[in-house]
Amino acid sequence: MTDGLPMAVAEQGLPSRIRIHEVGARDGLQNEKTVVPTALKAEFIHRLADAGLTTIEATSFVHPKWVPQLADAEELFPALGDISGVALPVLVPNDRGLDRAIALGARRIAVFGSATELFAKANLNRTVDESLAMFAPVVARARAEEIHVRGYLSMCFGDPWEGSVPIDQVVRVAKSLMDLGCDELSLGDTIGVATPGHVRSLLARLNEAGVPTAAVGVHFHDTYGQALSNTLAALQHGVTTVDASAGGLGGCPFAKSATGNLATEDLVWMLTGLGIETGVDLPKLTATSVWMAERLGRPSPSRTVRALSHQE
Ligand code: HMG
Ligand code: MG
Repeated sequence: MTDGLPMAVAEQGLPSRIRIHEVGARDGLQNEKTVVPTALKAEFIHRLADAGLTTIEATSFVHPKWVPQLADAEELFPALGDISGVALPVLVPNDRGLDRAIALGARRIAVFGSATELFAKANLNRTVDESLAMFAPVVARARAEEIHVRGYLSMCFGDPWEGSVPIDQVVRVAKSLMDLGCDELSLGDTIGVATPGHVRSLLARLNEAGVPTAAVGVHFHDTYGQALSNTLAALQHGVTTVDASAGGLGGCPFAKSATGNLATEDLVWMLTGLGIETGVDLPKLTATSVWMAERLGRPSPSRTVRALSHQE
């Protein structure tokens, strides 16, 4: 190890570059009880861009009563207008959300479905099929406007109420999201229960069903400390899009036992060690997470942030 980075030892069969889909400002902050001022969110996103992240999920155009933390989307999104060369996707559940996103010039959106009925109900007040019906016109209209559409699929590896989730069930909803016209699919381990063999099996089954690995990203929460192992399994399968949250912020207010996402710093540490490019400046990113943790009033759960900032 030198200069706060691991020694790079490349491994055959892994991608040479990974696109990190940074979700700290959305998935991370949506779970904070105290409302973070809009100016602070804007500064956070500017700092993430300055640290080299090129896809930064900015906010959600959902019902403000459902996620009060992101009720300032109309104020926040325009405050990011000076960031260039960075994709700023936003979550959109329905037509009303798409109207709001389009009015502000969003060029990337994400719809968010569930593999399980109980989470679909808790998160969207819909059954799985009703949610897909709600997304259909959103995806069609977005595509007509040449807006890039990500389809999130939650509870791919387990559900806090339903327990195990059959892989067939996950594949069915994943396929439906792709058939609606989503450009990419993000496999959500919303409560962090996945393990590497499970990840490999789901990716293989998706391929068999006609969903190409090139269209798939992985979205691991780190509840049981498995997020990095699961990520490595996905990379070995050929996945090149990995979701992560600066400092390990996160959770989901509608899923009990969901903790923070895979920390971006932990991911960048591993990828750097594997000789995989990310374009991220790890010291700058760590400084941003330390800065944000100070503002949120508690230390970052990321092991890498703690180690690099000498907090343990
Ligand atoms: P609903 O109560 O069924 O809404 O909620 P509705 O369609 O019946 O409409 C009721 C009222 O809400 C109407 O107003 C609508 O106009 C308004 P009224 O006519 O009564 O005056 N409304 C809206 N207002 C503003 N923006 C909108 C909007 N939509 C309706 N977009 C709804 C349905 C989908 C809106 C609600 O359930 C919702 O907002 N859910 C969002 C939940 C959420 O954001 N969850 C967190 C993100 S998912 C996640 O974190 C998982 C992920 O990270 C992956 C993983 O880890 O697995 C992505
Ligand atoms: Mg999530």
